[in-house]
Amino acid sequence: MGSKGQVLAALDTVSVNEAVDWAHRLDGAVAGVKLGLEFFLANGPLGYRRISATGFPIFLDLKLHDIPNTVAGALRAIVPLQPTILTVHAGGGLAMMQAARESADETADKLKLRRPKIVGVTVLTSLDDQDLAAVGQTPPVADQVKRLALLARTAGMDGVVCSPHEIEALRREVGNDFLLVVPGVRPHWAESGKQAGGDQKRVRTPGDAAKAGADYLVIGRPITMAEDAREAACRIGLEIDAAIGHAPN
Ligand code: C5P
Repeated sequence: MGSKGQVLAALDTVSVNEAVDWAHRLDGAVAGVKLGLEFFLANGPLGYRRISATGFPIFLDLKLHDIPNTVAGALRAIVPLQPTILTVHAGGGLAMMQAARESADETADKLKLRRPKIVGVTVLTSLDDQDLAAVGQTPPVADQVKRLALLARTAGMDGVVCSPHEIEALRREVGNDFLLVVPGVRPHWAESGKQAGGDQKRVRTPGDAAKAGADYLVIGRPITMAEDAREAACRIGLEIDAAIGHAPN
């Protein structure tokens, strides 16, 4: 993993066998896979290891958010699993993110492992301006995303998760050496039915998101709910390739 516009397939399932099956089908067609809370809470580190045994780089999206000491402890537990990327909530604050980074550095050093990239979740795409105000945060969402991205960078995070519509504005703020991990991506041909899901409102196509400057595109149902998951992933790869002018994965 390393260049712009790479696809991480979100394996959103509680079934280890289903996730392994998807991973085998996607071998060579995506840059990595994402495992989230649903999978990890159901299957724990043992289930996780079944997926990492497929050889895919793993984005472990647990969105950690707690006091610094607890998050540092969580990082000590996670680093040995060797995810390539993991998430903490940027809203947890500067000290919490710094503690995550320090703990990851120390643990990786001690075990002689590569440190996972840590990315901060900015504002969940399920929240709008009114929701922000209701929890005492200052809207508009775009400003809060920027604020949290800059805080994440100050804390030593490697990047942030943001919506596809925030890519250009954030790139201008944070420069090129900061990872933008972007869900909410829909190819034109997956805008309806099971592949669309219906809960992603502010979407962009893979080509547009890659061209705008996303490093990683997190794409679930357009791939996993396709009749042929591998064919769908390859098609997405070709669209990205056409948009940015080189093969991403
Ligand atoms: O199936 P779909 O392509 O919508 O999956 C997107 C993935 O990205 C899901 O695993 C979802 O949890 C995740 N995600 C998201 N919006 C965010 C953060 C993560 O959709 N703001």
